[in-house]
Amino acid sequence: MTPSHPSSPPSDALVLFGVTGDLAFKMTFPALYAMVAQRSLTVPVVGVAQPPWTISQLRSRATDSIKQSGAKVDRKTLKRLLSLLRYVPGDYNAPATFAALKSALGPSRRPAFYLAIPPALFGTVIQGLEAAGLSGGGRVIVEKPFGRDLASARQLNSLARSAFPENSIFRIDHYLGKEAIMNILYFRFANSFLEPIWNRNYISSVQIVLAEERGVEGRGAFYESAGCLRDVVQNHLFQIVALLAMEPPVYQGYGAVRNEKTKVFQAMRPMRQRDLIRGQYLGYRREPQVARNSDVETFCAARLFIDSWRWEGVPWYVRAGKALPETVAEVVVELKPPPAMLFTDSKPVTGPANYLRFRLAPTASVAIAARVKRPGKGYLGDQRELYLVEELLGAEAPYQRLLTDAMRGDGALFTREDAVEAAWAVVDPVLKRHSTAIPYQRGTWGPRQADDLIADGGRWRNPSPNGAPT
Ligand code: BG6
Repeated sequence: MTPSHPSSPPSDALVLFGVTGDLAFKMTFPALYAMVAQRSLTVPVVGVAQPPWTISQLRSRATDSIKQSGAKVDRKTLKRLLSLLRYVPGDYNAPATFAALKSALGPSRRPAFYLAIPPALFGTVIQGLEAAGLSGGGRVIVEKPFGRDLASARQLNSLARSAFPENSIFRIDHYLGKEAIMNILYFRFANSFLEPIWNRNYISSVQIVLAEERGVEGRGAFYESAGCLRDVVQNHLFQIVALLAMEPPVYQGYGAVRNEKTKVFQAMRPMRQRDLIRGQYLGYRREPQVARNSDVETFCAARLFIDSWRWEGVPWYVRAGKALPETVAEVVVELKPPPAMLFTDSKPVTGPANYLRFRLAPTASVAIAARVKRPGKGYLGDQRELYLVEELLGAEAPYQRLLTDAMRGDGALFTREDAVEAAWAVVDPVLKRHSTAIPYQRGTWGPRQADDLIADGGRWRNPSPNGAPT
């Protein structure tokens, strides 16, 4: 797959809505700093937000963010970034804010507008941009979750499309910018040995876990409006499923990848209540800005099915949650045991049969597990992992990569309108009707009831620091 070469000219300014917020502090400023260091950002950066800050307040916020990100700060690079910053305070509902933005943009004709704001405000800002005559020639970069359900995603898509053409809308799912996730696509289609076994005949199940040790940490208000299913399952986890499940793209280009990924979402069976266990960690209701009787889930375990020729009957088990035992993301693709039991341990009683494991975070690796004989007369063996890829050093951070791409008009690593809607269609039934969130202790793998999702004596494979899942 060659990188795509967008034909449209690069953005000549970057506008950051929500510049005083949490996302800008944690992710955006460090990404901008890296882009300045790499010389891929040389245009003005205009921050917009409600607080009546001065430019020097914004500069010190940017400086603090970059220092706290752990980046090795080079004084000249930081100075270059700070000199690019402008600030426009104002209410997103007021036309005066957009008029002030227009004058701050000066001669810029092709700004990229990055909406790092609560999803409920996307529509207001897009309408404000259009009314002020700022959308023509511009691009819009929108954070996930894109909508709250299928109906709101459709509404938002049509609103965005009324102001910007589809190839100027960049829907961010930062997982797509991660090196380890990009490697799934590469690993699957750059190696011929996988394809013959990559189907229902050889694969018994796939498990994906995205676990975080931390709780909601000051994001209670956001989390109350989202919950785990909207926050990471419908997007991050589904994107991983799509890369693992898609058919080979029919030509060398990202348009083809996006077509195939969309087909996976379209083939996913809409979830039923019995396919989902929702959990809530004990103590969540005492977090700031969380309702004392909240039923919002901080953990999800789900069973998915892809009704396609390749995957018919193969269950996909996904888990995600906060306040779990560790921070880790991992895929385990479990193979069927050999058809003939030539050895007593051909079908292991504990642990999975042969499997492929993709560790996605905090490190990146791929391992293949196969059985080898123990020395001795008896035919008994152990499952050992063969490591194929270890940590990739020097990789670009996702936001650096994605913002650079969006400003160049390169949509390869962004999600397309039809894919977003198809993914919402899968979760839509259980967003509205589901059973109550079950409490779980912090530091555990969620409520015990999650075990019931896995049929036929299978069980969840928990990631372990030593490699092989337990
Ligand atoms: C974000 C979610 O999209 O992804 C967060 O809103 C979550 O709740 C985060 O913590 C996980 O991303 P990463 O890159 O830290 O694995």
